[in-house]
Amino acid sequence: MTEALRVGIAGLGTVGASVVRVLAEKAAELQRQCGRPISVTAVSARNRDADRGVDLSGAQWFNDPVALAKSAEIDVFVELMGGDEGPARDAIKAALDAGRHVVTANKALLAKHGVNLAETAEKKGVLLNYEAAVAGGIPVIKTMREALAGNSVSRVFGILNGTCNYILTRMEAEGLSFEDCLADAQRLGYAEADPTFDIEGNDTAHKLSILTSLAFGSKIAADDIYLEGISNISQADIRAAASLGYRIKLLGVAVRTDSGIEQRVHPTMVPTQSVIAQVHGVTNAVAIQSDILGDLLLVGPGAGGNATASAVIGDIADIAKSQPGFQHGPVFGRPAKELKPYKKAKMRSHAGGYFIRLTVHDRTGVFAAIAKRMADADISLESIVQQADSGLDADVKTVVLVTHETTEAAVRRAVEGITKDGHLTDKAQVIRIERAE
Ligand code: HSE
Repeated sequence: MTEALRVGIAGLGTVGASVVRVLAEKAAELQRQCGRPISVTAVSARNRDADRGVDLSGAQWFNDPVALAKSAEIDVFVELMGGDEGPARDAIKAALDAGRHVVTANKALLAKHGVNLAETAEKKGVLLNYEAAVAGGIPVIKTMREALAGNSVSRVFGILNGTCNYILTRMEAEGLSFEDCLADAQRLGYAEADPTFDIEGNDTAHKLSILTSLAFGSKIAADDIYLEGISNISQADIRAAASLGYRIKLLGVAVRTDSGIEQRVHPTMVPTQSVIAQVHGVTNAVAIQSDILGDLLLVGPGAGGNATASAVIGDIADIAKSQPGFQHGPVFGRPAKELKPYKKAKMRSHAGGYFIRLTVHDRTGVFAAIAKRMADADISLESIVQQADSGLDADVKTVVLVTHETTEAAVRRAVEGITKDGHLTDKAQVIRIERAE
């Protein structure tokens, strides 16, 4: 029988334990597909005694993930510890240096060190696979790296964080509080170890930075992403959006513009009828627009043990199927040395429609003053409506504006002016609108 592919796994949390369990449950099927068995021969985690509900008796235990990564007894090092520095980085680097293939779900680490690690993997002729790092079980890395070869991508955007989509979906459908929905997402194993990474948009930004590099052949630039999370989104926003035919989603968007690449993560209004607005709960979606294929939308489970394990196991299976001496393709779809420097488009130049929710004193001249500030900033309005809100005092009203396409700079100028006029009782809420079919 062909020799087994020997897998060493570091990190046995929700995802690591799921990978071990599914590899055991699907051992016979994977062997048929790959032409050889896949065997977990070594593991490492912080706590040896934790009950993970999986059988680890056949695997050698390592206290030190770096020692596991370098072990001559493994062919593939699977990193599921998380963290963008420290043990995760040291272990992946050690594995690549030692000529081991690497599979990782670590988007934060790839966002920071992906290009360097890719250079090492390519020099060593080994694979660095990371399907699980972006959009959970959706095979978006394989799609962009392999299936879209030759396409010139103009925009990639999507719902990349299951926790945020789960929270926004339940807030809208059930009128629940943000905190209750977050607690459920944590209980279900969707959230990051530090959930502020989910709700403040960092996790989406890490994933977006990887997609941007694949889309535009540029170096990863996670620090150049405009970032806003969902912690400021209230039931008032959700209700106002619904009344105007929009739904709020946390989107990551990367667009090629004349002045460079625009990367942004923020709560976004999408038309209620659009396909992406129908993506609910922990489900993720990635939309890719390219010249040869046109519009592509991938939708699927974005977080949780099984979804992530599915992507990790697909990556391991690719390695099991590869022949000795096979020349592996580049990590980011083109040789890491050929990735171009990232050219950032300024956020102030962003062009699009805007939703602006103002809470104002109900007195004469307020509407006129708002309209004047808009006109002075050269902003054309699609609609301006006053809404009564049962949660507000009788002499306070909500005014919601939707603009035609304008620029970020113009909106900031107008909102600054409205704020100065002194009619607001609360900070203005500004949410960008994204074109979506
Ligand atoms: N915390 C992430 C999410 C897990 O909610 O999408 C998958 O990366």
